[in-house]
Amino acid sequence: MRFDKVIAGGNVVTPGGTFTGDVGIVGEKIAALGATLDREGAQVIDARGHHVIPGVLDVHVHLELPFCGTVSADDYRSGTRAGARGGVTTVIDFAIPSAGGTLADAADTWMKKAEGKSLIDYTFHICITRWNDHKDQIAGMVERGFTTFKEFMIYESEGWQSDDRALYGTLEKMKELGAMLLVHAESSRVLDELISRHHTAEEMKRLGARLHAITRPNFVEAEAIQRAVQWCEATGGQLYIVHMSTAEGTDIIRAAQARDVPVIAETCVQYLVLDDSVFAREDGHLYACCPQLKKPADSERLWQGLRRGEVSVISTDTCTFTREQKAMWEGDWTKIPMGMPGLETLLPLTYTRGVLEGRLTLEEMCMKLSTNPARIMGLAPRKGAIQIGADADLAIIHPTSTRRVASGKGGEMETNADWSPYEGWDLAGFARTTLSRGEVVVDDYKVVGREGRGQWLRRESAGLRIPVGGRRLEVGAGASGESYRQPPTSHPPLAGAR
Ligand code: URP
Ligand code: ZN
Ligand code: ZN
Repeated sequence: MRFDKVIAGGNVVTPGGTFTGDVGIVGEKIAALGATLDREGAQVIDARGHHVIPGVLDVHVHLELPFCGTVSADDYRSGTRAGARGGVTTVIDFAIPSAGGTLADAADTWMKKAEGKSLIDYTFHICITRWNDHKDQIAGMVERGFTTFKEFMIYESEGWQSDDRALYGTLEKMKELGAMLLVHAESSRVLDELISRHHTAEEMKRLGARLHAITRPNFVEAEAIQRAVQWCEATGGQLYIVHMSTAEGTDIIRAAQARDVPVIAETCVQYLVLDDSVFAREDGHLYACCPQLKKPADSERLWQGLRRGEVSVISTDTCTFTREQKAMWEGDWTKIPMGMPGLETLLPLTYTRGVLEGRLTLEEMCMKLSTNPARIMGLAPRKGAIQIGADADLAIIHPTSTRRVASGKGGEMETNADWSPYEGWDLAGFARTTLSRGEVVVDDYKVVGREGRGQWLRRESAGLRIPVGGRRLEVGAGASGESYRQPPTSHPPLAGAR
């Protein structure tokens, strides 16, 4: 068989096992896997001494989002360039209706943001912000190829908040339509009460950005997850908890899955590698995100949840604000634009802190960053795994060589942020090469792909019922539901590293 490209001699992670050998590409697709493929006439990309892994899906990003009185600073150009540099080949953003707007208007608005700018493939979760207006528009959006919806249990001031009636009704619709509801779970009334109790000049002077953490104790997230899970159990509608940050939340998900409740949980990499001690820094306000960073014990429980299976996905919740935008706080933590850059460092952080530090195997990492997100979001088998017939979305990473994270735009970073939560961290796992649908978009750590080449991804399904009963709670890799087979060690010896 003749190939257009052969990725040669890498440590290839596939659902059927990890092997040293070649990936053959014809057009946009993976056409063959083997120890040594025919290289005649093919462009050969040397992957010796490197891991060849499926392109990452970051299924939780906010690009060019109007939020907190400003607009997030990474758009589809900078955001997807940053993603590609970190091995990300698909993003899913959130299309949020404007005041009075329909769900279709929101999708059209986000399509326009992405078209002509996105370097990699993309789609959107559709946000339901006014249940009475939006409930009869959901089926039409499913027909249009959007199978995931989102509701926020907070953000009344943004006009985005959903109440229990909306959550319950939407979950009923999800069951009827085979779609999935993503929920931002925080308890709004208690959160508002805690914020108002601490919102005094004296406390703001004394505690500064630390108030961001003080006013959001873990029970604010736990109570809301518990409530959303209750409506999920009552209706049978597929639920996906976004950016879960607490140990308590993880325990609730584990217990619910043991009862066969159709709930899936995502965490974000910042909750795994950072904690709320950053708020004591002079520039601590930069780290304000929503939900906020928690304690080291929460991070440990989330890592455990990833290993045991109750946490299925790692994403970023990328919502970038520059130093100038963050300065809008002027000493009042309730005015900090909430969110951080993330797309560029998702894979390097997960690989370095997860795989190299022994918290996850290489195969488990691929499951949480690629295979599970693709399957859960209705993009498998086209995306998320190195298998014949799938899109040739691949990241080639060196197993150990590190790059130092720069402060943001201006160095080798592609994000529009002029700071990084990880500045000065030495991370392995940046993509030496990224391929998107068979095309090299990152070469020798530099972005070479053309903006606007990314395609919108139509979807027909979403969610899954997670198998329970003593078995590892894990999402299968392909249509067959098989899981990744792991080699005896997570770091097989590699020859010829460049
Ligand atoms: O802090 C963040 N990430 N803000 C974005 C909005 C959200 O709640 O996901
Ligand atoms: Zn959120
Ligand atoms: Zn978000």
